[in-house]
Amino acid sequence: MRLKDKTAVITGAAMGIGRAIAERLAAEGAWVAVTDRDEAGAAQTAKAIRQQGGQACAAFLDVTRPDSIAAAIEAIVADRGRVDLWVNNAGVSTMNRFVELTERDWDLNMNVNAKGVFLCAQRAARQMLTQSPDAEGVRGKIINIASMAGKRGNAPFLAHYVASKFAVVGLTQAMAGELAAHGILVNAVCPGYVQTSMQARELEWEAQLRGTTPEAVRKLYIADTPLGRLEQPEDVARVVFFLASSDANFITGAAINVNGGAWMD
Ligand SMILES: NC(=O)c1ccc[n+]([C@@H]2O[C@H](COP(=O)([O-])OP(=O)(O)OC[C@H]3O[C@@H](n4cnc5c(N)ncnc54)[C@H](O)[C@@H]3O)[C@@H](O)[C@H]2O)c1
Repeated sequence: MRLKDKTAVITGAAMGIGRAIAERLAAEGAWVAVTDRDEAGAAQTAKAIRQQGGQACAAFLDVTRPDSIAAAIEAIVADRGRVDLWVNNAGVSTMNRFVELTERDWDLNMNVNAKGVFLCAQRAARQMLTQSPDAEGVRGKIINIASMAGKRGNAPFLAHYVASKFAVVGLTQAMAGELAAHGILVNAVCPGYVQTSMQARELEWEAQLRGTTPEAVRKLYIADTPLGRLEQPEDVARVVFFLASSDANFITGAAINVNGGAWMD
């Protein structure tokens, strides 16, 4: 129970990677706020955590809406008194050839993936600045779920998504630099080909764009991964737990690859 008594907030935690992170942090003893724009999905995740013996509540939070971010954090702080861990996980993707990308593709990906991290992290950092530090001087930790596409620009049909995730990695470093003196640690995790509903949609789109089948694209993803399998949400959750734990208290500004070797830098 390494995270006993810690308060954790996870965005986009109704399903996929966010849900796995919420479950893992709760299993390690954290009290978890499962937030999402999908309220019913968030409620289901929170219920599943409670059924497994963990502590969780669900809250509506759309990362593109500052009012909903403020309302969620106010309710959580009223209940718990502080926020120790904030995980920016909510994200979206669409796929298209660069020359056919629309402003809508660009705005959606930038608004949710990049601006959403800015809005949430700023609000979380303002809260953490008001909190007393622990014995090691840590006031709080912010963990951003970026992507392999935040380091590898050569990702077919994902130029806009790549731009949004490079932004997350850059923002992680800038925030880490500014907030370090205040005991707020900021890191990113960069997953590879993770088997979630986002990936299921991407398999269909990429198959269409390449004129092949989703199964053939799935094989390409596996062939691109030296460890030889698709990544699972739990693979990401394990590393988020490490960053959340005190074992990672001298790590800030990192963007950690968790991709089975699909991209190395
Ligand atoms: N699946 C992958 O291969 C992969 C790889 C690298 C990085 N990522 C990143 O991991 C994160 C989670 O991805 P996933 O694969 O679990 O996706 P997913 O689509 O399965 O789940 C995303 C969740 O985010 C929520 N969400 C979307 N927009 C939101 C908003 N505006 N406000 C609040 N919640 C919102 C959705 O309701 C959903 O519950 C994303 O940031 C994604 O970019 C995914």
